[in-house]
Amino acid sequence: MCGIVGSIGYKESKSYLISGLKSLDYRGYDSCGIALLNNDIEIYKCVGAVSNLEEKIKDVKSTYLGIAHTRWATHGRVKEKNSHPHLSMHKRLAIVHNGVIENFQTIKNDLLKEGYEFYSDTDSEVIANLIESLYLKNGDILKSINESIKLLKGSFACLLINKDQPDKIYFLKRSSPLLFGKCDGYFLLASDASPMIKHTNIFIELNDNEYGFVTNKEIMIYLDDNEVSPTYVEKNPELCERNIGGYPHFMLKEIEEIESVIRRIVLNYYSNGNFLFDEELKKDLREANHIVFLGCGTSYHASLIGARYFEAVGISCSCYIASEWAYYPLVPGTKPFVIMLSQSGETADLIHCLNIVKQHGVKSLIVTNTKGSTLQRGCDYSICLNAGLEVSVASTKVYVAEVAALSLIVNSLTNNKHIISDFDNCYQIISNIRENKKEDIKKIAEEIKKARNIFYLGRGFDYDLCLEASLKLKEISYIHSEAIAGGELKHGPIALIEEGLPVIVFISDETTAQMMRGNIQEVKSRGAEVIVISKKSLSEKTDRIIVDDFPKELSSIAISGIAFYLAYYVSLAKGYNVDKPRNLAKAVTVE
Ligand code: M6R
Repeated sequence: MCGIVGSIGYKESKSYLISGLKSLDYRGYDSCGIALLNNDIEIYKCVGAVSNLEEKIKDVKSTYLGIAHTRWATHGRVKEKNSHPHLSMHKRLAIVHNGVIENFQTIKNDLLKEGYEFYSDTDSEVIANLIESLYLKNGDILKSINESIKLLKGSFACLLINKDQPDKIYFLKRSSPLLFGKCDGYFLLASDASPMIKHTNIFIELNDNEYGFVTNKEIMIYLDDNEVSPTYVEKNPELCERNIGGYPHFMLKEIEEIESVIRRIVLNYYSNGNFLFDEELKKDLREANHIVFLGCGTSYHASLIGARYFEAVGISCSCYIASEWAYYPLVPGTKPFVIMLSQSGETADLIHCLNIVKQHGVKSLIVTNTKGSTLQRGCDYSICLNAGLEVSVASTKVYVAEVAALSLIVNSLTNNKHIISDFDNCYQIISNIRENKKEDIKKIAEEIKKARNIFYLGRGFDYDLCLEASLKLKEISYIHSEAIAGGELKHGPIALIEEGLPVIVFISDETTAQMMRGNIQEVKSRGAEVIVISKKSLSEKTDRIIVDDFPKELSSIAISGIAFYLAYYVSLAKGYNVDKPRNLAKAVTVE
């Protein structure tokens, strides 16, 4: 969580930093701040949106050097004093930090003994004072940063400015992302490429525990006491740009992009009658006798579907929520393989898992939307989704992209080319929902918006979809919702059914359609308001949304749009901030 930006040598630093914070506010949006270096370090902060900060500094002169931060609170409440940048006690240094310092209290206690005072409740202020304290003793800021890296436990991407050095931004990084944009005569810095992509498509990535400084002309990177050559990467502007394109919300735009995203994945991984996945990866997958899937939130839901796909071709699988597996890791089988899913590629729980996977010497694949992310660089193999930046906190197009990519890779193992025409069929359904079903979905949203509880009901692949539909609804409408497997109803949840409770049912599986109709009767007879979404061959007249037929395995690809639109319209009807729901952040970079 949290987004950081920096700029050196660019005459419009202030405007870059403000627009950069706006691009990154999906990473955290409870408060923000900026530090500009003129003769002194000037810091401006405020609680709330970046536009508040913009207003606050509208008359402040731009400088050639600055750093800024948008916050998602971890240590200390949402208050101006806790927002970044933090100034060290002797006002020599200012720092912005993304990550969590696990041993901040121990370091703080030592610094308190030295006479340091603290003005915030954050772990980040400790970094500023630690580096300053070492610097005041040894007079060498790089050495102080290097020593601090050894003392700090946890994750950090930090930018640091020194009052006495108006020509440098210092940095240090572990487990949190940090990227440098090399521009003509200046450097830009940010947590991801989106704020910089209008200026350059040449970027420099850092590895863990690297530190150094950047001037307007050069970047110097170090690991321990050794100089490291920069790793340059090129990024495709189309995939990095944050552009709302006339839509009222990113979430709506991203739902509407689902069809094109899937088409692009197919183009990337299937051409001229051949699947284009790495042959080594396919070999490792074929030889694996057990696959462990790991993910969080929406990506975990996509992994449940992936596991069903692999099991269908005879490879045994298990799926774990990453934060669970990290503390109870199980790698069964003599030839295990790990598949991780992550939109951001930066999810801290998964990075924790990856470290364990590596300790076990097990090979891993990451399916991610973020090329160059920590997980993409850390895993043995990666499948990049190229779905374009997903800005809305509620993940939509990337969920579908993850499922589509897993479907393609599994079908490549059996060389089942029929999947491509099944996808063609899905495109028709997705576009039909987009063009013709939104009004029906809006009506349903109006009917359910006042509910305190909502249930989603399904079996098999439809149950997986229910899990995702339910998460999406609760994330952005703040309505309590639960996904229930049809067969589980009688084992407990049916006790919660009461008069008027909305129950949304997905029916697209021939094997269990009849059973689901039975479940519908059970909840109806207890007063539930049932809303059925079905495919034509399994539909009944009273179903609220009916789409053309598709293979049951592809329900999350074909019809998850219905669930996403529904969550979107409910949130909209309740007047909530669709793209930035309370308490959440897009990239969960803390455990
Ligand atoms: O970037 P990741 O896919 O690793 O993120 C995992 C979850 O934090 C994420 O899917 C979260 O559940 C979304 N907000 C869901 O909409």
